[in-house]
Amino acid sequence: MTAATREAKATNIVWHDGSFTRQERESILGRKGFMLWFTGLSASGKSTLATALEQHLVAHGVSAYRLDGDNIRFGLNKNLGFSDQDRTENIRRISEVAKLFADSTTIAITSFISPFKADRAVARELHNAAGIPFIEVYADVPIQVAEQRDPKGLYKKAREGVIKDFTGISSPYEAPEQAEVHIRTDLVSVEEGVRKIVAYLEERDLLTLSKGVKRDSNGVSDTPSKAIKA
Ligand SMILES: Nc1ncnc2c1ncn2[C@@H]1O[C@H](COP(=O)(O)OP(=O)(O)O)[C@@H](O)[C@H]1O
Ligand SMILES: [Mg+2]
Repeated sequence: MTAATREAKATNIVWHDGSFTRQERESILGRKGFMLWFTGLSASGKSTLATALEQHLVAHGVSAYRLDGDNIRFGLNKNLGFSDQDRTENIRRISEVAKLFADSTTIAITSFISPFKADRAVARELHNAAGIPFIEVYADVPIQVAEQRDPKGLYKKAREGVIKDFTGISSPYEAPEQAEVHIRTDLVSVEEGVRKIVAYLEERDLLTLSKGVKRDSNGVSDTPSKAIKA
């Protein structure tokens, strides 16, 4: 991240605390927010998996919300391109917004290529510092498979030189070394990928789909989900 994008421009501002802590909010609402950060090449399956996971969670009465790379670039980040600096700023903004969702007790699901390790580390650190679990999900696929899939015709355009700075072709992708969940999307189905993520979350007591979201440890136990539809 460059100094320019990190520089705080506002002065004379004072943080205004809320009237209850996140733990108290979680207890009252009976659910816990955290961050699921998808990373991977274009066409690796981030959006497909993230959408299927969001649908699965919401169908079970769990508050989950997806922030998708392309969608965010239509609005909040429409003034950013794909230079290294803009990609970094893209991730910084989305980290901050997703953190707000998680802080509000919603499961934040982001699907951005997020090709640079350093930027993902900044996102992780931001959540760590706030005490919000950060789970990196690596949608992994050989570039040849991603290029064959090419659902948006972007690899073709990148090969033709029409798109500059295209990850995996003319811009690097730095693969995670220790993602919490690693999914080879050319080897497992979308359903299996979702199952793998849910299993990881349940193992760590972040989620109990049969009973609703696991509450935090300050004295409130699990309660059955009100809206199990799936
Ligand atoms: N197991 C799988 N997991 C995710 N996507 C898959 C899988 N198998 C095939 N695909 C296909 O790969 C493409 C992935 O596209 P998309 O989800 O838009 O990727 P990204 O968001 O990473 O750019 C879709 O056309 C999807 O149907
Ligand atoms: Mg996508």
